Amino acid sequence: MRTLTGKSRLAGILGWPVSHSRSPRLQGFWLARHGIDGGYLPLPVRPDRFEGAVRALADLGFAGANVTIPHKEAAFALCDEVSAVARRAGSVNTLVFREGRIHGTSTDGFGCLESLREQAPGWRAEAGPAVILGAGGAVRAVAAALLDAGCPRLTLVNRTAARAEQIACDLGGPVEVATAPPLAEAALLINGTSLGMQGEPPLEIDLAPLPDHAVVQDMVYAPLETRLLAAARARGLRAVDGLGMLLHQARPGFEAWFGVAPQVDAELRDFVLADLAADRGAPQAATPPRSGA
Ligand SMILES: NC(=O)c1ccc[n+]([C@@H]2O[C@H](COP(=O)([O-])OP(=O)(O)OC[C@H]3O[C@@H](n4cnc5c(N)ncnc54)[C@H](OP(=O)(O)O)[C@@H]3O)[C@@H](O)[C@H]2O)c1
Repeated sequence: MRTLTGKSRLAGILGWPVSHSRSPRLQGFWLARHGIDGGYLPLPVRPDRFEGAVRALADLGFAGANVTIPHKEAAFALCDEVSAVARRAGSVNTLVFREGRIHGTSTDGFGCLESLREQAPGWRAEAGPAVILGAGGAVRAVAAALLDAGCPRLTLVNRTAARAEQIACDLGGPVEVATAPPLAEAALLINGTSLGMQGEPPLEIDLAPLPDHAVVQDMVYAPLETRLLAAARARGLRAVDGLGMLLHQARPGFEAWFGVAPQVDAELRDFVLADLAADRGAPQAATPPRSGA
């Protein structure tokens, strides 16, 4: 059994609520795998206490923290320094406390692109136009990352058009807003809505107009194989699930806090999938690896 010591490095995730978060298990898996003297805690913090809590963590010697709903914009506002991508996204999901200053970045876009590269080998942002369904916080970060990676044209389609228009306005560049997804020329289609998630209505979309080389990605990871991904595979298109994004977005924080660049691999995927299944009532949660495994 791994226990903390007086020298343990600490990080955690601030959210309200935070009990749904996969991050403690995911980060805990890497801590165990690498035998690191450290801990990663769930930190439920009410919105009106968020800034005080972050400053207290820094004072307590934490190495940093992840930030989730509803605090990502508040985190952006309180950082002393933010990365270029966080500035573009207008939100921060990863805080690093260093030399008395609070550094912030946004890793959702990184996670999304890394999972595309992993699950659709050879995919390149420059390859052609992208269509994203949705205009929430995750889409904002992913849109910024796609443009930064060289995506030539991006179309946002959202139930509430004004949210998509705000993102287009904030990001500038080749971003359009449409009421119907222009699939015929799309090299990439991403579902960034909550449609298709367990307990939500399915996403209804006809993939027939997509070109044969198109890649389809779903940010939803519960269920892992959404109807959208099944339809894409049935059409012979490459399909990228939302779990990859979840796992890859966690890498930069872990490396910054604990000093090791962690890997996303099949063992980690299976561990997190078993954890998701356990939440749905399966008998036993997954066991993290032994130290050094
Ligand atoms: N894989 C990952 O690592 C990862 C990371 C972050 C988020 N996600 C997933 O990405 C999705 C969006 O997350 P978020 O944080 O950006 O949430 P959010 O800010 O709440 O945005 C939700 C989006 O879904 C749309 N939507 C919700 N219900 C809808 C409906 N009935 N019909 C049409 N559109 C609907 C919303 O449209 P309106 O603007 O019209 O309300 C909005 O565009 C979720 O499925 C989340 O689980 C995945």
